[in-house]
Amino acid sequence: MVDDVPLAGLAGQTIAGVLMAAGRQSWRTTGRRSRPRGVFCGIGVCFDCLVTVNGLPDVRACQRHAADGDEVTTHA
Ligand code: FES
Repeated sequence: MVDDVPLAGLAGQTIAGVLMAAGRQSWRTTGRRSRPRGVFCGIGVCFDCLVTVNGLPDVRACQRHAADGDEVTTHA
């Protein structure tokens, strides 16, 4: 589930991959200027892709593999 909406993914796909496959390009905004952010580096360096997974905040969506039952909350 992403923001209480069920999303399907493929085995081995990251949360960022699931979000992008669903058509999302951004899923949070910056604190100061409310600029959209999603995947930028895709390798775990920039922290632009942060989401909350199963209540754990600040998870890098490009580094976390999606799993059945995950509850993902974005900050868009
Ligand atoms: S896109 Fe840069 S850390 Fe995930």
